[in-house]
Amino acid sequence: MTIDGQKVDFAPGETIYEVARRLDRDVPTLCYDPRLEPFGACRLCVVEIEGQARPVASCTTKATAGMVVRTVTDALEAHRRTLLELVISENRDSGDAFGAGTPAHVDPLRGASSQELSTLAARYRVRPGRHAGAHSGHSRRDDDNPFILRDYDLCISCYRCVRVCDEREGDHAIHVGGRGFESRILTEFEGHLADSSCTFCGQCVQTCPTGALADKKALRAVDLPGELTKTRTICPYCGVGCSVDIVTKGDRMVAVQPAFDGPANEGALCVKGQFAWDHVQHDERLRTPLVRGADGVQRPATWDEALDRAADGFRRAAAEHGAKAVYAIASGRAPHESAYTIQKFIRAGFGTNYIDNCSRA
Ligand code: SF4
Ligand code: SF4
Ligand code: FES
Repeated sequence: MTIDGQKVDFAPGETIYEVARRLDRDVPTLCYDPRLEPFGACRLCVVEIEGQARPVASCTTKATAGMVVRTVTDALEAHRRTLLELVISENRDSGDAFGAGTPAHVDPLRGASSQELSTLAARYRVRPGRHAGAHSGHSRRDDDNPFILRDYDLCISCYRCVRVCDEREGDHAIHVGGRGFESRILTEFEGHLADSSCTFCGQCVQTCPTGALADKKALRAVDLPGELTKTRTICPYCGVGCSVDIVTKGDRMVAVQPAFDGPANEGALCVKGQFAWDHVQHDERLRTPLVRGADGVQRPATWDEALDRAADGFRRAAAEHGAKAVYAIASGRAPHESAYTIQKFIRAGFGTNYIDNCSRA
């Protein structure tokens, strides 16, 4: 086939969009998530095929031999701009949030994909307010779960959240109800997420391209000073080894986002990896070693004193009862370096394999 004048081979079953991506063609998408079945809802990915009267959605159209495709023409770009203007016209605060050609105000703390619509709106210099009329989306700010903000006034009905919950999480916790401007994302009986089968994995939040679903814990950091930085690491909670990005603002950890290119998780996380990180900066976290005095009361000590005391205790236990008297269980809340060190301590220090990690559970 030929894409934008370039001849290219394709594998059976590949879509035009997938081939175009391989060629680094920048075809815009909104309802597309490479981990999900193509949906064909937003039509932003339209391309022209020679011999066909109308543009087709490249994400749902299979490549065929001899096909001649154009991904960028003036007509396609105008079409995409109009589609975006229709989408944002029924989006709350679209005028403010997606000011024509200006960077968006959707806070990137909302989720990993939350900037997709606003970035496209800026790229296509959309004219907010060009289309007036009814608005869909019914915010569920009354949902008092601690993790997920359901701000559906920003929803564009791409259904990525519903599809990721079905296809990737297998949870089917959320669904689409209603038609047209009455379409809405809901749980069974239109209740709250905590009363549904939701496991709070956060996958819906991280795929949402508008920030309509948002990470409540991350949003606590909206007013913190400092730049957002992402640091790639591996979740220590279990043996799956999910890749995550730790999001920091200034010197504070403010969120965890899944790595979509993580080989073990491909963007998925469980509730622990996604939301259970408060212990890192918890006020009650020990900052000074404590040793117990003869009176049995713990008091602050220096690291040297505490380490000497611990070493004495371990030596005494091993001398009196043998090396197998010592058994260590490393915490899944500790960094990998600590897990490595504690197994080294047991294996090299005591010559046993009496070591485990709670993340094996
Ligand atoms: S958090 Fe996970 S389980 Fe809950 S609705 Fe979202 S995708 Fe489904
Ligand atoms: S909540 Fe987000 S992901 Fe779900 S349909 Fe709306 S815009 Fe799409
Ligand atoms: S990305 Fe192809 S129709 Fe939405």
